[in-house]
Amino acid sequence: MEYKRLTLMYTAALKQMETKIDIINNEFKTLHKYNPIEHVSSRIKSKESINKKLKKKGLDPTYENLVKTINDVAGIRIICSFIPDIFKIVEMLENMPDLTILKKKDYVTTPKESGYSSYHLILSVPVSLSVGTIEVKVEIQIRTMAMDFWASLEHKINYKYNKQIPKGVKKELKECAKMTHKLDKRMSHLGRNLMEEEKQIVKEITAEYSTAYAGLMLSGNAGV
Ligand code: GTP
Ligand code: MG
Repeated sequence: MEYKRLTLMYTAALKQMETKIDIINNEFKTLHKYNPIEHVSSRIKSKESINKKLKKKGLDPTYENLVKTINDVAGIRIICSFIPDIFKIVEMLENMPDLTILKKKDYVTTPKESGYSSYHLILSVPVSLSVGTIEVKVEIQIRTMAMDFWASLEHKINYKYNKQIPKGVKKELKECAKMTHKLDKRMSHLGRNLMEEEKQIVKEITAEYSTAYAGLMLSGNAGV
């Protein structure tokens, strides 16, 4: 399996997605009073990690096995401010006509056993190469700053114990996750005025927006 060929394809997919997220961000800046996206990062899984994952699945390291079974070769993490922002971003991505949502995991509403909380999407994005257009899978993780804080530290602690965390530490981490969630909920509650206030502004601007783009739309809601 040639890693160079993979890197080319997944780098292109990440670039496409980064641009789309940038557009979402700009759309927000136009429509809303505040910017919900704090930070975006992306990465491509290393050759070693890909091979390790395939081996764990009992599969040969072939291009076909990788494309079919590994969803997180290309990954993007979106860090936002308040919990409702997560769902807004998911909705905006879902509404993009050229993206295909393949899988959704809502660990925000129902956190994982570890305490981990985030919204995960596996989607495919069209990538145009000189030889034609291909569909490439990308994993998107969307979480608040508080969720990111917990996940980053838990990951480090997990790594330190070589994924064999003692029971007591596990329990404490879970308690910390609950505290993080409480903090997130309180901050989102404080931020709700900001969101309520902007709902009206959004309504007004969306109407303008629709008129401005009427006749230009290939699909979507503007202009309807
Ligand atoms: P992989 O773990 O990637 O093989 O996929 P999966 O099928 O378990 O998917 P899931 O959506 O549950 O997790 C995907 C990614 O989310 C992981 O690779 C991590 O980046 C992150 N993640 C999931 N669970 C945890 C957790 O308990 N702690 C932390 N820190 N990150 C997690
Ligand atoms: Mg992963």
